[in-house]
Amino acid sequence: MKPMVRERIARLLGPRWMMRLRRVARAQERPRWGNLRRLAPFSANYGFDRGTPVDRYYLNGFLDRHRELITGRVLEVQTDGHARRYGRDLEGVDTVDIRDDFRPTYLCDLASSGLVVPSDRYDCFLLPNTLQHLRDVEGSLHHALRVIKPGGVILASAAGFVPLTGDAPDYWRLSARGWTEVLERVWKGCEVRVESHGNCLTAVAALLGLALEELRPDELDVHDPRYPVLTTVLCRKPSAGGLR
Ligand SMILES: C[S@@+](CC[C@H](N)C(=O)[O-])C[C@H]1O[C@@H](n2cnc3c(N)ncnc32)[C@H](O)[C@@H]1O
Repeated sequence: MKPMVRERIARLLGPRWMMRLRRVARAQERPRWGNLRRLAPFSANYGFDRGTPVDRYYLNGFLDRHRELITGRVLEVQTDGHARRYGRDLEGVDTVDIRDDFRPTYLCDLASSGLVVPSDRYDCFLLPNTLQHLRDVEGSLHHALRVIKPGGVILASAAGFVPLTGDAPDYWRLSARGWTEVLERVWKGCEVRVESHGNCLTAVAALLGLALEELRPDELDVHDPRYPVLTTVLCRKPSAGGLR
């Protein structure tokens, strides 16, 4: 077809019909939205009211795979829930938070915790779903490393394609590559492992507030790095004699 004729047809039909025509010509699938064509999510609180939020599938799997590291003296942000659920041979669990709602052991901003949380004290620091909430992220990460013992670990995670928190400050959405940049800058000399989890289906489900029980394990387990629902972080501080 001559470009001039194509242009006249396009003008006549308008962009919506042209797109339909192109879809047919290219044998592209037509979306069947059903009740997904909506402006409000199915749940306003991440799917907690339906079941378990989708990102928990990846967080729980991450903590489950690293149970052996959640041991000894553990520090956790907000509550001691994950330490108690996944830890073993615990010698004690303390908590830290900038808010007093959950009566943390240490009530402070992690970024200025120097005189509050002792240095080199913990075998493991759990920061689940927290990195995106740290306003001074580099300052907070510096102190997170300070409070763990040489050879100790930090297990943390950051939100990806999940809704922003409505009732608490939610600052950062970085890719796995972005977090690696930040973490390697602050945690120089440490072993740092950053992994993303999720795919386009689980991202859409998480954004719409569906629960993980509404998806199948073979759907949840597919990894597509372009659609991170959750990014997990493991950091090991060098032992007293260097990296181990
Ligand atoms: C999403 S919650 C923690 C994870 C939660 N237990 C879960 O299972 O999802 C994040 C917590 O980090 C705390 N927080 C945010 N910024 C902080 C900071 N700068 N220092 C200490 N705690 C902070 C928040 O008050 C909040 O309780």
